Formats: sequence, structure tokens, C-alpha cells
Amino acid sequence: MRKKIVAGNWKMNTTVPEGVELAKAVVAESGSVPADVKLIVATPFTHLYPVAEAIKGSRVALSAENCADKEKGAYTGEVSAAMLASVGCQYTILGHSERRQYYGETDAKLVDKTRLALACGLDVILCVGENLEEREAGRHFEVCETQIKNVLYNFSEEDMKHIVIAYEPVWAIGTGKTATAEQAEEIHAFIRKTVAEKFGEAVAEETTILYGGSCKPSNAKELFAQKDIDGGLIGGAALKAADFIGIALSF
Ligand code: 13P
Repeated sequence: MRKKIVAGNWKMNTTVPEGVELAKAVVAESGSVPADVKLIVATPFTHLYPVAEAIKGSRVALSAENCADKEKGAYTGEVSAAMLASVGCQYTILGHSERRQYYGETDAKLVDKTRLALACGLDVILCVGENLEEREAGRHFEVCETQIKNVLYNFSEEDMKHIVIAYEPVWAIGTGKTATAEQAEEIHAFIRKTVAEKFGEAVAEETTILYGGSCKPSNAKELFAQKDIDGGLIGGAALKAADFIGIALSF
């Protein structure tokens, strides 16, 4: 049975005190969520240490939103995978469309980042997804396939145990537009097939694939009911503990 995951991507939101309060509220409400659903909060770098303290001993896991593509050294402003592991992160998101779009994140850099994160004992939540123009041109399968091949095909079956894929259609992020459950399932199944082509059916069956893009308590149930959707990577709705937990209750 593959893992069910609901992960909150806080993006560049909340001050540190607000973030600590949010993390504590998530912990406080987490008891109602079935034990087989993994809860993760992904916070800005500044929040990681205090949030790690706030969630200590709880079922909530900690993730970063990015990491450096270099191991260490003279890279001003960067934060390494080893640093993330040292503050208690168990995960890092990589390849979010906002990083691809605004910060020049390439698939080649994502290979380096993924390698470093795995080497430091972090699990990776790798984001893939097409933008509106690509969707309208009918290129969404091809775009996701290329992103997966360019990054994940460089890794091993063993590495895949530590990699979660998040499908995030860029046109659905923060727009209020959600992919329909059918649209999402179609591409999740395709992503799983792309994983199977390289790593085999057994690995593909064990790979958790999350949906991201305007996921909220009102639509999560329908999305999570799909065969190949194993949870969500949540943006806006993760900033309210009740909504985040409401989504986690939707399996
Ligand atoms: P929204 O849930 O705000 O659309 O964001 C999705 C996302 O980008 C999560 O990484």
C-alpha cells in the first residue's frame, strides 16, 4: 500500500510567530486524521527550526520548500540539503512551478538538488506540471513525461522509495480553478505509467503521487477518491489549520 500524504506548502507566507502558531494548530487538530495519512508542513527556511520545535513529538513532519544545488561553500544566500536535515527536516519540495517560472529552476539543477537531498537523508517531493498554454495545446502529457524523464530517470529504484511526485497544473495554482477529478486522474495514471516504464510496475504502484492546485476541503474528497491520486500538495488552504485538516479528512 502506498503512502497517503497531505502536505501544506506555505510558500512565502506567515511571519515566524504566525507560522509557529499555524504549526501548533495543525498539531492540535491532527488527532482526528486517520493514522495512515501522513501530514507534512513545508515552511520557509526561516521557520524550519522553530516549527521543528513546535511539532516535536507529534505526527506532523517537516519539509523545506527548496534546497541548494550545491553541497556547501561560497554560495551566498543558499541553503543546503545538509542544513535542512540538521534542523529536523524530513522532506524538501523540489521543482515547484513557481521556482521553475521565477527562479530559473531547470531539470538539470533538479537532478543535482534531488541527489543532494537524498544523500542527506531527506525525502523529495518533486513537482511536475504543465502551464495553461501547454494544456491548451494538448501538450500536458508530453510536458510531464519530459520533466519526469529528465529528473527521475537519473535515479534508482531504491531512491524512488524516497521520492514523492506532486502533479501541479500551473493553471490551477492559486487561481481557484481545479483540475476536474477526471483530468487529474488521467494525468496521474499517465505519470504512474511513466514511472513504471523505467522502474517497473511494483515501484510505480508504491510511488505516492499528489495533486496540487486549488485543492480545498470542498473538492479534496472527489480528487482523493481517484485511483492514482494519493493525496495533495496544498497551497492557500494550508494556511488555515482547519482547512488543511479538513482536506486530510477527505480520504
Ligand atoms: P494552491 O493550493 O494555492 O493553488 O497552491 C498549490 C500549490 O502550488 C502547492 O504547492
